[in-house]
Amino acid sequence: MRTVIDTGTYGEYLHYGLPLALVSVLGPDGRVNVSTNASITPLPGSLSRLAAGVLIDNYTNELIAKRGEFVVNLLTPDMRGIARQCGSLSGVDTDKLAVCGLTTTPAQHVASPLIEQCPVNIECRVDTVQHLDELNLWITRILAVHVRKDWTNGRGGVNLAMYKPLLYAFGHTFELGPMVGHSGI
Ligand SMILES: Cc1cc2nc3c(=O)[nH]c(=O)nc-3n(C[C@H](O)[C@H](O)[C@H](O)COP(=O)(O)O)c2cc1C
Repeated sequence: MRTVIDTGTYGEYLHYGLPLALVSVLGPDGRVNVSTNASITPLPGSLSRLAAGVLIDNYTNELIAKRGEFVVNLLTPDMRGIARQCGSLSGVDTDKLAVCGLTTTPAQHVASPLIEQCPVNIECRVDTVQHLDELNLWITRILAVHVRKDWTNGRGGVNLAMYKPLLYAFGHTFELGPMVGHSGI
């Protein structure tokens, strides 16, 4: 027997354990906006891609449409307060970087900056967009993945002992548990 669960009015309980990230975009006025996003997934293939679902009414969506690029900055469990603030305030009338005490550093390929407090930053340029009801699915090329020095393993990869993303599942937040397998799954 199985039961169909309630996914919430806006599908808020659809997320089954995805990393929470801040999407950073440079605005035309030179201000950087950040917003919390749980609807981001990398896409496999010979070209590295990433898809991000952004609600059309959000300022972030307007900025991505203008700029054609953004940066995905992974959050960590100690950044839950930042996730809450950047996921409820609008960048139209709030400088969320100032409110949250976040700082930026330049990206390599895009004008939108990396958020320094986030240990992983992914530079994305928009390839195409799919309009779906009240959401835009931005499909991008990944131009670079930056990892903070203490999260790297010295061999061009991530130090998995340090890897602690903030996960979002069924409306709640979690830490990643222990590794249970290696490359052979
Ligand atoms: C846990 C969490 C997950 C969220 N996930 C998304 C998401 O996947 N896509 C989205 O567009 N907004 C998402 N939001 C909502 C935006 O972060 C929120 O509407 C924000 O205020 C938008 O800011 P902006 O208007 O400056 O872009 C999420 C918020 C929270 C708290």
